[in-house]
Amino acid sequence: MNMCELIDKKKRGLELSTDEIYAMISGYTRGDIPDYQMSAMTMAICFQGMSKRETLDLTLAMRDSGSVLDLSSIDGIKSDKHSTGGVGDKTSLALLPLVSALGVKVAKMSGRGLGHTGGTIDKLESIPGFNTSLDTPRFIKQVKDIGFALTGQSMALAPADKKLYALRDVTATVDQLSLIASSIMSKKLASGADSIVLDVKCGSGAFMRGQEDAEALAAAMTEIGRSAGKSVRAYITDMDQPLGNAIGNAIEVKEAILTLKGKGPADFTELVYTLGEGMLTSAGITSDSETARILMEKAISSGSALDQLARFVRAQGGDDSFIYDENRLKISQYSTNICADEDGYVTGIDCDSAGLASLALGAGREKIGDEIDHGAGIMLHKKCGDEVLEGNSLATLYSSDEGKLKAAAERLKAAYHIGKEAPGKRSVIIKEVV
Ligand code: URA
Repeated sequence: MNMCELIDKKKRGLELSTDEIYAMISGYTRGDIPDYQMSAMTMAICFQGMSKRETLDLTLAMRDSGSVLDLSSIDGIKSDKHSTGGVGDKTSLALLPLVSALGVKVAKMSGRGLGHTGGTIDKLESIPGFNTSLDTPRFIKQVKDIGFALTGQSMALAPADKKLYALRDVTATVDQLSLIASSIMSKKLASGADSIVLDVKCGSGAFMRGQEDAEALAAAMTEIGRSAGKSVRAYITDMDQPLGNAIGNAIEVKEAILTLKGKGPADFTELVYTLGEGMLTSAGITSDSETARILMEKAISSGSALDQLARFVRAQGGDDSFIYDENRLKISQYSTNICADEDGYVTGIDCDSAGLASLALGAGREKIGDEIDHGAGIMLHKKCGDEVLEGNSLATLYSSDEGKLKAAAERLKAAYHIGKEAPGKRSVIIKEVV
């Protein structure tokens, strides 16, 4: 294979064969193809796109670039869930204990946050002692023992994607549908679950800002998963404002705990229930959504979902007393409020700016390896559609570094849009892609 010829082929809009895609990905993983040639290829893909067949081949080649987790020793259907990422997205922290309390076997790999979107692993590390790095035997044993384990991304799974994603990140080639779909699905397929529920975000805080693009991404990922023999369900959900009220790490864990105590924000709770319906029905726990919802409501009111979160935290070395008393989770000591300058209604909260405000407080990292302040973050008191009066507090910002508050507050204030007219009602669930 001559990489220059392949780049030229794609540049001219021609399809790459299965063998060419496999040779390119294995050559790149081994280090035989240099970054400069691969970045020319990803840019050509951005301009010319890929066919469905090419996208599937790229996914499978990246899946096969490392090991594929074998979960067959665990009885029953193994389930996974993936979100394309957003601001305030703590869904896994509430959803996975909830469905695993009802018998779904959850084996999940999660990532760290980078840039303005958070990562589940960073959030869980707000709990003292929590171990986010399980080796494969321990990961599998935990799913067998308690029905739920979660670990950080292992280098052994889809190493081609890890390398390619880092390259795309610095060459402005992230936002191409086939590249995103193959990147996400190669990792999901390598993680070994039988059933995958996808939460595809749409709006100002998402890769896909428009609904049409989000639907196309969801359809592409669903098709890839099904072609690889998996059960896949995908939902398009709103990321035009932050999810729930909390943005950060410890503050989001607190909100997830409150949700498992039945006291979560309405939009977040609705998202958890909807994805939960997908997971419970795909795993065969029940065949209909109504029953699934009743089961979840009971698991929350009886405390069994919260107990399952505590069991999971304990199994991974964390101090579960923080789960039963969420106020023990440390929120940073310095705080400031932003207030409304006029009467009206909140008509929008720009997700990117809210995420960047949280980053500026210390809750995220700008580059891999940066330390994060787990107690830093934001509590939104007003969301889209809420009425505000001049002087009302819109949000409180927290940081361990007092000097970071002012700039972050200015950024968050600019994210809020206040208008005289109440905006139309919006739902966090936009649609299920079938
Ligand atoms: N998340 C991924 O894992 N890959 C992408 O390309 C985009 C988001």
